This record gives sequence, structure tokens and C-alpha cells, in this order.
Amino acid sequence: MTASPPAATVKDNREKLLERAMSRYQYSGDALIEVLHTAQELYGFLPPALLKTIAHKLRLPASRVLGVASFYHFFSLQPKAAHTFVVCLGTACYVAGALGLVEALDRSGAKPGSSGAKNDVSVQTARCIGACGLAPALIYDGVVHARATPQLIKAELERIGVK
Ligand code: FES
Repeated sequence: MTASPPAATVKDNREKLLERAMSRYQYSGDALIEVLHTAQELYGFLPPALLKTIAHKLRLPASRVLGVASFYHFFSLQPKAAHTFVVCLGTACYVAGALGLVEALDRSGAKPGSSGAKNDVSVQTARCIGACGLAPALIYDGVVHARATPQLIKAELERIGVK
């Protein structure tokens, strides 16, 4: 039996994944909400530059994209906390133990969908971030981690002062 390689950061392919999502909808402006959902899952929030890119790709006025993103409370235009964890709960990551990552965050007091003001940590989940071969995948402060472990989360939480 071989030991699993340690968790490692991988190339950030979120841009490619968002492009793929827009392509799936044939860059139709009618798919704006679905595309915004995908973007938020991938990035944790919707920064202005990302909204501008989406507007350009879907051939929509930037004001419309911003209007939709700011109208629905589900969308966030700013990071919800100083530190953001996005745990992929897609099938490959789920099977590889992603729930253990959620539990590790849960033990810290940060719950999925929350923006724990107490500890300044936001926890979100995603369906698939396109790194299935390196499951379970975790995006921590914008960096994709392959084969993430509860120990990695524990170490990061300790590093930022969250017990
Ligand atoms: S299921 Fe997690 S990256 Fe695809």
C-alpha cells in the first residue's frame, strides 16, 4: 500500500472552468445567473474585474451584470471574511473525503455558508472546481490545494489564529 502524497497547491484553473461554464451556455446572456453562480462557487465572491469579464464574454452591459449580482443576496461582491475556504463537494471530492474537510472547519466554529465574524473565516462549498484528479480539492484564500486534509485545515486555522 502506498501512502497518499501530501496536500499540494495546484495551478489555478478557475478561469478555465468559468470559461467552460460560459461556453456550455453558448455565452448566452440568458445564462447570466447560472454563470454568476459558477463564478461565485469558484472564487468565493464576485470582484469587479470578474463581473467585467463576464459582461464582456456574455455581451451584456456591465451595469446589467452588476445590477443582477448586487440584487440577489446570494451573491457577494466582496470577500465575506478575511479568509475564505471553498470546499469542493463534487462527487470525486466527496468520495475522497471532502466531508472531513467540512467537519474540520465546522469544529473551528466556521460553518458552510457562514461568514463567521467571530473568527473572520468564511466557509463555502462548490460542486466541482475541475480538479477531480487531485481530490479532495480545497480553495483557500484563492489558492487551490490538491488532496487537502483536515490536518492542512487545522494547521492553516492555527496559523491565522483560529482554534
Ligand atoms: S469533484 Fe471536486 S474538483 Fe471535481
